[in-house]
Amino acid sequence: MLQRDLLDDAMRRALALAGRGPADDPNPQVGCVILDPEGRIVAEGWHRGAGSRHAEVDALGRVPEAWRSRPGELTAVVTLEPCNHVGRTGPCALALAEFGIGSVAFALDDPGDASAGGAESLRAAGADVLGGVLESEARALLGPWLARQRAGAAAASSATAPPAASPAAAPRPRVIAKWAQTLDGRAAAANGTSRWITGAEARADVHRRRAEADAILVGTGTLLADDPALTARAHDGELLVDPERQPVPVVVGRRPIPSGARVLRHPALAARGLEAPIRLRGDDLAADLAELARHGIRSVFVEGGPGIIGSLLARGLADEVLVYLAPALLGGPGLAIGDIGIDDISGIRRLDITETLPLGRDLLLRGRLPASSSDPPRYAERKRPADRMRPAERPRDPDHGHPADRPHPDPALIPATEEH
Ligand SMILES: NC(=O)c1ccc[n+]([C@@H]2O[C@H](COP(=O)([O-])OP(=O)(O)OC[C@H]3O[C@@H](n4cnc5c(N)ncnc54)[C@H](OP(=O)(O)O)[C@@H]3O)[C@@H](O)[C@H]2O)c1
Repeated sequence: MLQRDLLDDAMRRALALAGRGPADDPNPQVGCVILDPEGRIVAEGWHRGAGSRHAEVDALGRVPEAWRSRPGELTAVVTLEPCNHVGRTGPCALALAEFGIGSVAFALDDPGDASAGGAESLRAAGADVLGGVLESEARALLGPWLARQRAGAAAASSATAPPAASPAAAPRPRVIAKWAQTLDGRAAAANGTSRWITGAEARADVHRRRAEADAILVGTGTLLADDPALTARAHDGELLVDPERQPVPVVVGRRPIPSGARVLRHPALAARGLEAPIRLRGDDLAADLAELARHGIRSVFVEGGPGIIGSLLARGLADEVLVYLAPALLGGPGLAIGDIGIDDISGIRRLDITETLPLGRDLLLRGRLPASSSDPPRYAERKRPADRMRPAERPRDPDHGHPADRPHPDPALIPATEEH
């Protein structure tokens, strides 16, 4: 079996691929990557919904010819234990065994009575099998599906089972909120400068995770303060993934994008036939996110700043946070997140920590917001935090005379071509 750090990296990629599948499908979101003996990805796949190929079969179908004669040297890294039953597609455990895969690492045991047992079948076929790799992260991704499984099992075992829960809210992408902060919770100095709070290792980690998202989102405050490129790239500027796999940039807010902004040269734009980043107003973030989902965006990496991240957290619209903590102090007004609508300590939002990772002198804390926070009614009636900020923190020019204020056929997506 490959070393654990290689398996962890591959599992992160598999989880990102899994997130591309439909979250509200009867089948779980599953991703799979296949590694060579050096831990390099030779093929990947994911499940696109009931009736389509399972992730393992999708990935096996993409293994290059050169490796097909040496399958015993390959490792399949899968987010869910390969299934063992014959549904609309054959059992994945059998597909992997027939392929002759050498090793299989997976995150979560399959909870289904009929589908479980894939690990045992694979071991019986001679594969080296390891479960529990980044299990809590897979559990976080599959939370809604696992809950539906449990509800289904409970309903099946009880004639007096309660009626099904009301339909879920409009599907939205998975939202990962990331920020870098000092020990005293600051994300910027008093003059708004924030480069760089963390060191090179932490920033490289951010770029790797950017590459796994479908979209990368900032508010106009960050765009104007930092002029970020929003690409997933190495320290020498080389892209980590091809333009068509780069996260598509999304800018929230009414202020226009300056004509020289680096984000206008983002490689994902040309690759997807877009003239400019996707624009959202931000007045109704839940509707904005649902709109992104309708455009096929399954995961959004939010890079701030405090205003947007505060608003997402206040509305229960962030699934995960990634906090890059620098052993440094800044003091002053540049708090890492804005108001999230908590006035009393009883409203404190506690996170389940799913990962802690030292990165040079810095530390990454990754946390999942408990499922109950996905729709917190006590925040729903509040105004957006930007409206509750102190005057100095409010947008400087409330009357931008922005072209987007004019009616547009698709109000949620404001074409940035109107900006410049
Ligand atoms: N350390 C880090 O990780 C990090 C990351 C990013 C940024 N920063 C720093 O953060 C500072 C910028 O902070 P910021 O809060 O102005 O940035 P922001 O959150 O990126 O942008 C805030 C702006 O977004 C727009 N917006 C639209 N809908 C919104 C909503 N529902 N909630 C909140 N805002 C909404 C508003 O602009 P309109 O008036 O245009 O509508 C608002 O002024 C800079 O100093 C930057 O360097 C630090």
